[in-house]
Amino acid sequence: MNAEILINKNFTIANIDNRIYGSFIEHLGRAVYGGIYEPDHETADDQGFRQDVLDLVKKLNVPIVRYPGGNFVSGYNWEDGTGDKTKRPRKIELAWNSIETNQVGIDEFQEWAKRADSQVMMAVNLGTGGPQDAQNCVEYCNADTDTHYANLRRQNGFDKPFGIKTWCLGNEMDGPWQICHKTAEEYGRIATEAAKLMKLVDPEIELVACGSSGFDMSTFGDWELTVLDHVYNYVDYVSLHQYFANRENDTADFLAKSTDMDSFIKTVIAICDVIKGKKHSDKTINLSFDEWNVWFHSNEADTKIEKWQVAPPMLEDIYTFEDALVVGCILMTLQNNCDRVKIACLAQLVNVIAPIMTRNDGIAWAQTIFYPFMYASANGRGTAMKPVVKCDTYSTSAHKNVPYLETSVVHNSENRELIVFAVNRSLEDQMDLELSFQDFGSCTPLKHVELYCEDLKAVNTGDSQAVLPTERNLEGNAGEKQTVTLKKHSWNMITYRY
Ligand code: AHR
Repeated sequence: MNAEILINKNFTIANIDNRIYGSFIEHLGRAVYGGIYEPDHETADDQGFRQDVLDLVKKLNVPIVRYPGGNFVSGYNWEDGTGDKTKRPRKIELAWNSIETNQVGIDEFQEWAKRADSQVMMAVNLGTGGPQDAQNCVEYCNADTDTHYANLRRQNGFDKPFGIKTWCLGNEMDGPWQICHKTAEEYGRIATEAAKLMKLVDPEIELVACGSSGFDMSTFGDWELTVLDHVYNYVDYVSLHQYFANRENDTADFLAKSTDMDSFIKTVIAICDVIKGKKHSDKTINLSFDEWNVWFHSNEADTKIEKWQVAPPMLEDIYTFEDALVVGCILMTLQNNCDRVKIACLAQLVNVIAPIMTRNDGIAWAQTIFYPFMYASANGRGTAMKPVVKCDTYSTSAHKNVPYLETSVVHNSENRELIVFAVNRSLEDQMDLELSFQDFGSCTPLKHVELYCEDLKAVNTGDSQAVLPTERNLEGNAGEKQTVTLKKHSWNMITYRY
C-alpha cells in the first residue's frame, strides 16, 4: 500500500502546549499507596516515594499531573491529607468502596510532583464540598497572607506557597455515578460561585470546568451549553474525558476509535465558540482533555474486589500491543488539535489504567502504552504542522472511511528537526510512505523508532517484555522527498533534519 504526506513550512496548526503530555494520579487502587508511595520499599526516598517509579515517570517527561481525583475527589476533604500524619483520619471512601488512610495528601503530593519535575493540576471537591471549601484549599496552597489556612500550611512545614496554577472545578459532575452528581444547571451555578471565590483568593490561577465524562453521555452537548452559559467568564478550559475499549475484539474497529476522539474535540470546540458568540465575548475557552486512555481489561476482575480494603489492586489493565497503537493514535489526535487542546492527561500514571506498573515490595516496569507516550512527550514539542495526507481508507461496522495512516508532524525549529509520528492501521499490508517537505530545503533522514509486534495481544509483564521499541539510524540521502516503509499495524516515529 502507498501513502503520501505533504508538509509545507507555512502550514501549521499551533505551538504545542507541553501540558498535553500530562497524566493523572488519583487516590484509587494502588496508584498512590504501592504506586508512587511505599515507605518500606527498598527504593523509597526520605519521604517514602518509590525511586524506581519516579525514574520511570521522569522518562515519560510528564509536565503536569492531575490530583487527587477523579471520582475520589467528590467525597474528599483535602484537610484530611495535611499536617501530622499520625493524626490523619482513616476514612471510608465511597467512590471506590475502599479505605483511605490519608497518609498522602497535598502536602506530600506537591513534593512528589517537584521530584517528578512536574506541576500539580489540583481538583477541588464540588460533590460533597462547596465554594468555601474550594476557596480554603486555594488559600492553603497558594496564599502568602497572614490568615488561617495559609498559616496552617506554614505550621505544617511549608513556608512558601505551593503555587498551584491549574485547578479543576470538580470531576465528572455530569455522571450519575458521581458522589453528589449534579444537573448541568446545578453544576453551572456551583462552579461559577466556586470559581469566583477561588480567583478572588488567587487571581493567577486557571480553572477547568467539567465537560462531559464521554462523547456517549446522553447529556453531552446540552451539558456543555448550559454549564458554559453559566461559567464562561470565570473559567479558562472545559474538560473532556474518554476511555476506549475493544470489547468485541474487532481490532480494525478499535484502531479507528481515535477518530471518535477527534470528533469529540471538534464538537466541544464548536460548543465553546457558540457560547462565545452568544455572549459577544473576546475570550476563547480552550480544552483540557484531562482523562483519556484505553480501559476495559480489568472491568470484570474489579467486580470481584472486596469492599473496604486499603489500596486494593483495582483498574489494573494489562495493556496489549494493539492498545499501544491506539494510545499512539490518540497522542497524534491531541497534537493535531493543539490549537485548542492545551492540557491532556493520560489516565492514569501508575498501576491504575497506567503505563507504569509495580509490585508491592517489588519491581516496577513499563507497559506497552508507555512507549508511544514516552516518544511523543520527549519529541513532540514544538509546532504541530498541518500535513496533507493521501492514503487509502477502510470501513468497519462502526467507522466509515478510516484512513489507514494516522499521522502528526512536529517542527522543532531549535533543532531544525521534523518529527513524523505515524501508525499504519492496516492489519495485513505494509505501507510505503512518501514524505514531501516544502520550503524546508533538503531534509536528511536521522532516525526511525518503531513499535511493532506480530502478536497484537502481546503484553509486557514484570517477568517479560514482549513489546519494546527498536531504534535505528537512517542513512538515506538528503532531499525534499523521502520514503519510509511502515510495517503493518505498527507505530513509528521518523525524524529528519533540514
Ligand atoms: O480514571 C478512573 C475514573 O474514570 C476517574 O476516577 C473518573 O473521573 C473516571 O470516570
